[in-house]
Amino acid sequence: MQQGNFLFGASTSAHQVEGGNSNNDWWEWEKTRPKDFQSGRAADSWNRYREDIALAKKLGHTAHRLSLEWSRIETQEGRFNSVAIARYREILQELQLAGIKTFVTLHHFTNPIWLARGRLPAGRQGWESKKTPELFARYVKYVAQELGDLVDFWITINEPMVYASQSFVRGVWPPQKKNIFAMVRVIRNMARAHRLAYKVLHKANPRIPIGFAKHLIAYTPESKTKLTDRIGVALYDWFFNHMFFLLIRNKQDFIGVNYYFARTLRVRMFPFSISEVLLDVPKTDLGWPIYAKGLMQTLLHMKQYKKPIYITENGLADAADSKRADFIRSHIRAIEAAQKQGCDVRGYLHWSLIDNFEWAEGFVPRFGLIEIDYATQKRTIRPSAYVYKAIIEQSKGV
Ligand code: FCB
Repeated sequence: MQQGNFLFGASTSAHQVEGGNSNNDWWEWEKTRPKDFQSGRAADSWNRYREDIALAKKLGHTAHRLSLEWSRIETQEGRFNSVAIARYREILQELQLAGIKTFVTLHHFTNPIWLARGRLPAGRQGWESKKTPELFARYVKYVAQELGDLVDFWITINEPMVYASQSFVRGVWPPQKKNIFAMVRVIRNMARAHRLAYKVLHKANPRIPIGFAKHLIAYTPESKTKLTDRIGVALYDWFFNHMFFLLIRNKQDFIGVNYYFARTLRVRMFPFSISEVLLDVPKTDLGWPIYAKGLMQTLLHMKQYKKPIYITENGLADAADSKRADFIRSHIRAIEAAQKQGCDVRGYLHWSLIDNFEWAEGFVPRFGLIEIDYATQKRTIRPSAYVYKAIIEQSKGV
């Protein structure tokens, strides 16, 4: 790894680890689902954050990404909760004391119930409403005032394209819509929300770099020589990977990359179809293909935006912990290869520090460097976490 101050650590998000987030749209939706798909106490990090941070430190991490739960902070429209803010201050202070840099996400998929269910102007709810970007910016302003002194990097929104497609086209996440026009509205509103938040955050604390976390898929053609496959790849790549960067008009100080897998596309003309070809590579417990080269490819594509890059998520569901160590090694090698080709990559945050509530998939997928026994909330470090620790130490020349 080039450098001495490359950041290494792991990521989490509020709803997935804190537990008890009963004031958001996910919690409401989970009530309609079987018990294993309800976040409940999750990993109870709201109460056990000291232990989690101590473990991150023990594992040599120098950075940590977490998210703030909007529904805890703004419990009713315009009503802010100082108790929740005080707890987030404690968490961030604990990280600072441990010498760990903080990446703080302001929106990671969940919404306060009042925002998701309330009828906002123009008759629309949640992210479909034109009013939501302003409401988001107001919450962001409050948070910047209250917590800004403890934040090293801001991440405005996590994976806007994933949120918009899962919740508004595929209908698998709340509010479970299947409406392409709704998706377009949500993408536009999220881009505007990012731009407004960028302005607010810069004004509040000009020294803190701001970005958003972009889920990037490494699209590849089934056949490199087939023009139609290549056109299909170019279209998917533009729409899913690049369009949001254009919408935010490069208002970002760094690029946050969430990378998990590649997709190989096959295009047929008569009748027209674009389908996915399954790669013959090892898969994670969720069936996601493991393809480290795709990380290098996506990093090289990000060079065009001319900003420093941080990997804000990268990981796998692997309950047996039999593939995680190799996964980490190969993806870090991919980063090094991208650096050699001129990519300014400055940090790597593994998803995730601890096992957590994996959205619609519930608690079965195990993404943690640290295992959680949900019956007792006992934390156990997985062997791969020590492999990662050794990589971190080597890179510092320890
Ligand atoms: C990403 C999400 C994160 C987690 C991982 C596995 O898309 O940002 O919350 O669920 O996938």
